[in-house]
Amino acid sequence: MSLGSTGSVFAGSVGRKVERLVSKIDELSGSLRGEVLSVEEWRSGIDQLLSAVDVQDLMRGIDFDRLAARTGFAELGVSTARINFGPGNHRQLSFLPKLFAVDTGRSIIPHGHANMVSAHLPLAGEFRLRQYDQVSRDEHALIIRPTVDRLIGAGDLSSIGEDDDNVHWFIAEVPSYTFDVIITGLDHEAEHKYEIFNLDIEAAETKSEGLLSVPRMSVPEALKKYG
Ligand SMILES: [Fe+2]
Repeated sequence: MSLGSTGSVFAGSVGRKVERLVSKIDELSGSLRGEVLSVEEWRSGIDQLLSAVDVQDLMRGIDFDRLAARTGFAELGVSTARINFGPGNHRQLSFLPKLFAVDTGRSIIPHGHANMVSAHLPLAGEFRLRQYDQVSRDEHALIIRPTVDRLIGAGDLSSIGEDDDNVHWFIAEVPSYTFDVIITGLDHEAEHKYEIFNLDIEAAETKSEGLLSVPRMSVPEALKKYG
């Protein structure tokens, strides 16, 4: 069954490539939800799949220019838009596809997650990306371990696991965009469909064995300091 129909973004040969890509992401994400794949297997599957993507094709396939113009940039933090894969798509996808737009010097503020995973493919621009394992948390702070600190550009995928690399922080060096694959509600019985823990990384306290204790902060405080 075609995901698209007349007028959908899946028209033409680029459209068919993107349709195949969406189907494969959906299949991997459905398998994760159905507990056929572990989070580690989902991450390596998504990594393999999205690292092989022709970013220009994907941008044409999601009608990037129009979507980016509509999304704009936020004064602090990010501006986001849901990606609609075409009016003929009546199938419920197992993941939420989104575009993130981050202006120069703005950031996807440092945060950890619960009950969700995600993957981020830069489409244009450049970010300084930092990631950390989430070792533990309480209502005041997260204990984290640094894992990644590098510059990433178009086509350079990053993803988070349930604990591994679970905390991330992207600072845009130039106007930048990511294609995001988001899956929430991994544990149907959890109290919250998903949770986000914004972190005051600059106030981190160094613990033994390279661990950091980082205070949690509210969204307005976090946007003011890191957005
Ligand atoms: Fe995140």
